[in-house]
Amino acid sequence: MAQNQTDLSRGTAVMTGIEPVKFITENPEMIQVLKLVKQTARYGSSLMIRGESGTGKDLLAKFYHNHSSRRSGSFIQVDCASIPPDLIESELFGHEKGAFTGAYSQRIGRFEAANSGTLFLDHVEELPVQVQSKLSRVLQENRFERLGGNEIITVDLQVVSSTRNNLDFLIREGLFREDLYFRLSVVPVALPPLRVRKGDIPLLVKHFLEAFTRKHSRPAPRFSVQALEILCSYPWPGNVRELENFMERVIISYQDGKEILSEELPLHFDNVTEMSLDAFADNHLTLQEIEKIYIRRVLYKVKGNKTKAAQILGINRKTLLEKRRRYDLN
Ligand SMILES: Nc1ncnc2c1ncn2[C@@H]1O[C@H](COP(=O)(O)OP(=O)(O)O)[C@@H](O)[C@H]1O
Ligand SMILES: [Mg+2]
Repeated sequence: MAQNQTDLSRGTAVMTGIEPVKFITENPEMIQVLKLVKQTARYGSSLMIRGESGTGKDLLAKFYHNHSSRRSGSFIQVDCASIPPDLIESELFGHEKGAFTGAYSQRIGRFEAANSGTLFLDHVEELPVQVQSKLSRVLQENRFERLGGNEIITVDLQVVSSTRNNLDFLIREGLFREDLYFRLSVVPVALPPLRVRKGDIPLLVKHFLEAFTRKHSRPAPRFSVQALEILCSYPWPGNVRELENFMERVIISYQDGKEILSEELPLHFDNVTEMSLDAFADNHLTLQEIEKIYIRRVLYKVKGNKTKAAQILGINRKTLLEKRRRYDLN
């Protein structure tokens, strides 16, 4: 089994050995991405992954590592967003004792640690421009010196990077070096957000249900058809991570044998209603879908009192009953 160490230093994680990576998807676009990443890994070419938070960038970087010929080497992750800018250069390239105030001993950098393996530059858009030019040079030459040292260190590794933004804008603004961009993104891929691959939601729900019932030795909950429908139409702004966390909460708080009803889902799932109209449009909601969500919400608020609900909605009781039947809101 793989060992994970995350305590090496801030923003750095090391994975040695091969940890199985399970990508759950039936989405054609995702499947294409996975194919391309496998292919890229086989040649050890630089891969750049773009995607919103929670779409699976870390997972994909490990997937790349596991499908590469350097899979028995280390997988070293550097989170460029969480390391203070003035420390990142020594974090990447290491330093000799006395290289700067506070450098009490020699320390090898992440480049050396990733030798014969994979270096994963997470949130690479956060890298300070001064460090970018050095990084670009090192990627080209595969050699460098530790800070304060003059020994030339040669490495043989492959690089994956990830970004939440489209870097074009940063390049135009002079905040990201174009030469570095081209070195890092020999093969660029984009992970689509969950809201544009809703077909994956039921698969992921099932996957995490199974995983967490096993992990916590809990019975498997059942969702009502309506509750599942709501989960499938919710736009999941936090993507797979949000869904994963939600499923863990469900398993922990689940009452044995009881079906989970739509009314019991946390309010924010319906908060499609609290979201801006822009979000409705972005998520391609039809008027009927919005009507259904709103009627359900109102019925819930008035605790099922149809006369009150009809009043709030400005329709008569008979129309409400019809709509309630049509939308299966019993
Ligand atoms: N397609 C998927 N199948 C199974 N688990 C996934 C999938 N995509 C993401 N995950 C899980 O969701 C969580 C968030 O993914 P992560 O790779 O950390 O996203 P990102 O780095 O883009 O923020 C992780 O626990 C990851 O294992
Ligand atoms: Mg990540």
